[in-house]
Amino acid sequence: MPNIPNSPKLFIKTYGCQMNVYDSDRMSDALAPQGYQTVPAADGADLVILNTCHIREKAAEKVYSELGRLRALKERRLKAGQPLTIGVAGCVAQAEGEEMLARAPVVDFVVGPQAYHRLPGLVERARDGERPVETEFPEEDKFEHLPAASKKVTLGRGPTAFLTVQEGCDKFCTFCVVPYTRGSEVSRPMAQLLAEARGLVDAGVKEITLLGQNVNAWHGDDGTGAPSNLGRLLFALADIHGVERLRYTTSHPRDMHDDLFAAHRDLEKVMPYLHLPVQAGSDRILKAMNRQHTAHDYLTLIEKLRAIRPDIALSGDFIVGFPGETDADFDATMSLVREVGYAQAYSFKYSQRPGTPAATNDAQVPEDVKAGRLARLQTLLSEQSHAFNQSVVGRTLPVLLDRVGKRDGQLAGRTPYLQAVHLDAPAHRRGQIADVVIEAAHPNSLSGRLANAPDHTPHHTPHPTHADLAKGDAA
Ligand code: 5AD
Ligand code: SF4
Repeated sequence: MPNIPNSPKLFIKTYGCQMNVYDSDRMSDALAPQGYQTVPAADGADLVILNTCHIREKAAEKVYSELGRLRALKERRLKAGQPLTIGVAGCVAQAEGEEMLARAPVVDFVVGPQAYHRLPGLVERARDGERPVETEFPEEDKFEHLPAASKKVTLGRGPTAFLTVQEGCDKFCTFCVVPYTRGSEVSRPMAQLLAEARGLVDAGVKEITLLGQNVNAWHGDDGTGAPSNLGRLLFALADIHGVERLRYTTSHPRDMHDDLFAAHRDLEKVMPYLHLPVQAGSDRILKAMNRQHTAHDYLTLIEKLRAIRPDIALSGDFIVGFPGETDADFDATMSLVREVGYAQAYSFKYSQRPGTPAATNDAQVPEDVKAGRLARLQTLLSEQSHAFNQSVVGRTLPVLLDRVGKRDGQLAGRTPYLQAVHLDAPAHRRGQIADVVIEAAHPNSLSGRLANAPDHTPHHTPHPTHADLAKGDAA
């Protein structure tokens, strides 16, 4: 990005989920009218914002250590007569509020995720020496007051983009802080989302990932005052010329509905990949987590999905060591994982989050037991993802070449199943969807080569089915 002299510089450090990545871009957009130019590092910035995550404890600790590092920078800058303003945004900001000012004197302002449209005013007050804290859930809709995804931001970021369609959560799983930090569910109206998607396409975006803490609970206004649903939104987005690929995350098993199944069945643009967290395989633990479904309900959904889209790749989240989890409960999680066969998954040790019901449960599981279970689960999950990666070797897959590769002359991209692929390809192919022959599987990625150009007619080898994948499953 060109360095515009005299314009104030902004650096945003993003922690946590993809929604924070999206929010960080909206924050840069909100400050752009003030002349702020976004820079890639804190050195040289006049304003630093940490966009934080509170989902598990390590994330919050990281924020406090980063603030420690920033204190030294701020002192150096003050001596040089170049003041540095530091703000904390995101879920740690929302959860800690005023406390943050006491614990970290270096912080000049605190802003929760629902108030980013008020950022310009907050920055001004902070620069005047006030230390404002804005963690209320304002009456007005932040999305109506925030500039939409701008060309400026998206053009620099390649052919993929996030689009927040829904925020907050009304599910109240007993381990989770999200309903408290992001508030209750709010769905953006369909027309607003279609307009933002068209803007993204105009800026060169080919793949849009719809974001929401509980994305499949999206029920935005369909334009007539009636609630729509995510399946119908996917159909409407797929109609936009230039949208090539659609993804959405994160889903809750309770909110899988018929229109969504229909979207997976009928729309080639909806990628065959679904992140559907189950958290645990024991009904007793699922009940204590307030997940509102059983392991059987979850497996039935998976079966239904595979019946309509046999190649769908599944991903999930798991928590081990939830209060009261016995060896038998944990074994039920292992069995469920074996039964499903995940392409990818995220697993965590249960972490006590202040203010959530499970945090005060007396039956906390000792750390060493959690660590042992996590290691066993992660071994199984990585065997499965390796088997999944192995199962596509030799196939030709359409890969969206979205970034430069690790080595000179290389590009990298994603298969429909969200696997990263590295290959030799000329730089001008960046942004295109190319047919790639997958040659090898590595622990976290694939390598391949461009399928024979120039008169190559796209012909994709059949998608692997779950049965193919299970063959390669070591578990
Ligand atoms: N402890 C451990 N993992 C958690 N997650 C959410 N809250 C906690 C917690 N208290 C995990 C869940 C969720 C993912 C985003 O983070 O698996 O799906
Ligand atoms: Fe948290 Fe997801 Fe449960 Fe909502 S559905 S409370 S975001 S884990």
